[in-house]
Amino acid sequence: MTEERMQASQAGGEPVRILAIESSCDETAAAVVENGVRVLSNIIDSQIPIHRRFGGVVPEVASRRHLQAIWPVTQQALEESGLTVEQLSAVAVTAGPGLVGSLLVGVSFAKALAFAWGKPLIGVHHWQGHIAALQLERQMPREYLALVVSGSHSGLLKINAQGLFPLGMSHDDAAGEAFDKIARALYLPYPGGPEIDKAAKNGRADAVAFPRAWLEGTDDFSFSGLKSAVLNYLNQRRMKGEDFSPAEINDLAASAQEAICDVLSAKAVAAAQREKLPLIALAGGVAANSRLRALLQQRATAAGIETVWPSPIYCTDNAAMIGAAAYGEYRLGHFASLSLNADPRKPFPLQAAAKTAASVKA
Ligand code: KG4
Ligand code: ZN
Repeated sequence: MTEERMQASQAGGEPVRILAIESSCDETAAAVVENGVRVLSNIIDSQIPIHRRFGGVVPEVASRRHLQAIWPVTQQALEESGLTVEQLSAVAVTAGPGLVGSLLVGVSFAKALAFAWGKPLIGVHHWQGHIAALQLERQMPREYLALVVSGSHSGLLKINAQGLFPLGMSHDDAAGEAFDKIARALYLPYPGGPEIDKAAKNGRADAVAFPRAWLEGTDDFSFSGLKSAVLNYLNQRRMKGEDFSPAEINDLAASAQEAICDVLSAKAVAAAQREKLPLIALAGGVAANSRLRALLQQRATAAGIETVWPSPIYCTDNAAMIGAAAYGEYRLGHFASLSLNADPRKPFPLQAAAKTAASVKA
């Protein structure tokens, strides 16, 4: 963060320092963020090695691991921030969407801390956090298009001073879910997205012409057809007793990845052009995908549109993004009561997210 942004973030009185907690899926995370932009600490305990042997996240195992990790992770975040409990302004937590058992650990823990420390409590929507991650490393413009792509969500959102407007969402599988399911069918380890990204670097993207669901006339996405097409292709070959060489696995990974990135990038650029938005911001775990970044940048640049994405540490689930989103809520006085509950299908808070973006400009 530049000195200028740091000073700007501190202008206007006492700094707001929020201890944030994230436990919606398989990362136990805690962070302390000042004024929504300055990360004082950011600790992530990933459960990937634990779930890898099952080929995916096992919800019950995830909840138990969150229970073990949440206190040490939070203690470390507080220690590394160099702050005392008295210096904290609030406690924030991801309240949904996500795995209910995982969310419950974070929400119950944050409620207990807020009660014991006498601090206000803030409940944050997970996708709002992914969007707010963008503001941790740069000043976002007044208007832009966000392409949020994670394991649980794919959506295009228009963000401006008036509000935050979802333009389109996935009808079925999220982009990350498609990556993970296709990777599993290719016998690649969990999580599948990064493995496909890696394998695809040595494969041919035009080896197999997998279908694209364009859903013309909408900004919506659908990836379940692609997933079925890949599974059918593999099953038909396997039923004939055919096996796949490592080179063929690379080709299949590259072809499936191309189908996902082609649709995501083309639809994002078309929406930005139509809405006359000068910038497309990628957010969420899939924002780490190298092909998506390259294709989006290439197409957006050709259309005179800029692109940005967070560093890898802020693409994946983390608590700093929750602290960033919570700052806007704090400024608006949007506090939760101690009856805050985990909501695995929490609806998107349009106004809150919009005001988060607006508040950072202030
Ligand atoms: O945002 P995130 O960490 O958790 C959710 O909110 O779901 O996103 C996780 C998703 C997983 O599906 C993972 O496979 C995918 O992001 N992912 C990737 C890459 N890195 C993570 N997908 C494609 N390419 C990558 N490099
Ligand atoms: Zn996420």
